[in-house]
Amino acid sequence: MAVIDGKVLLTHLVSMEHLSEAEVLGLVSRGLSLKNSGAYLPLNQQSFVTNLFFENSTRTHKSFEVAEKKLGLDVIDFNADTSSVNKGETLYDTVLTMNALGVEVCVIRHSEVDYYKELIESPTITASIVNGGDGSGQHPSQSLLDLMTIYEEFGTFEGLKICIAGDLTHSRVAKSNMHILKRLGAQLYFSGPAEWHSIEFESYGDYVAIDDIIEELDVLMLLRVQHERHGKGEGFSKEAYHSAYGLTQERYDKLKSSAILMHPAPVNRDVEIADHLVESSKSRIVAQMTNGVYVRMAILEAILAGRRELQ
Ligand code: CP
Repeated sequence: MAVIDGKVLLTHLVSMEHLSEAEVLGLVSRGLSLKNSGAYLPLNQQSFVTNLFFENSTRTHKSFEVAEKKLGLDVIDFNADTSSVNKGETLYDTVLTMNALGVEVCVIRHSEVDYYKELIESPTITASIVNGGDGSGQHPSQSLLDLMTIYEEFGTFEGLKICIAGDLTHSRVAKSNMHILKRLGAQLYFSGPAEWHSIEFESYGDYVAIDDIIEELDVLMLLRVQHERHGKGEGFSKEAYHSAYGLTQERYDKLKSSAILMHPAPVNRDVEIADHLVESSKSRIVAQMTNGVYVRMAILEAILAGRRELQ
């Protein structure tokens, strides 16, 4: 991985912790330039990519697909339910097969944390791996689109007061963002149910009650309550969660006029955020989705350039 003449070169993208600040800022800047200029040239040589999604997804899957098509890549369709996964094929063997067919980039979402390690360490697999989310581990393309959205608004990360609020334990978005936001100079806070906060967050920012910090924030980053990752009996009623931890109209009114609110989506309406605030003036939730296309174009460009120039 490298930045050469302002151009980011990657071999894989699996964790935000593997990226330098220069690489992150380079990808954010390229995403913004692709969005604002519209001046992107489709690649002029055939490159096959595939999207291997073993967990549900709307945004990540479809925005990678749009990004791939805008770049002129050949997208190989894959559906886990109709593939040989149902005959016992392992993830490793699915990727080994795609690699053998000539696929250069595999975008993968899988429930197993760190699933990508055996793929990037394999002596046989040369395809680049882009992590579209590994369980409660990392979600680097979501983090990059979040950073692009913040940078688009404020032009810096230095000194911004950012609160990541909600289901911290199960959130790959929180874990991807906390490392990089701290490295880029933001002042981080965490909020939400105490049972979903743990020691792993302590070195990145203070744990606070949302009502004690909301008036000072530049960015309120809400997290989805991840019912699918909860144990039996874990969780709250919709009303109890919303009233204690969610963004109500009363809390929204306390945000600074310059503050923005974000959420990776899908949103549990009236849980993390009141239904009518999802598209409110301080919300950047829709902008995050749009930015996802452009930052994913920047990621794919960096991977394809890295494959040609780093090997
Ligand atoms: N934010 C996000 O990862 O959404 P999807 O699960 O729909 O991809």
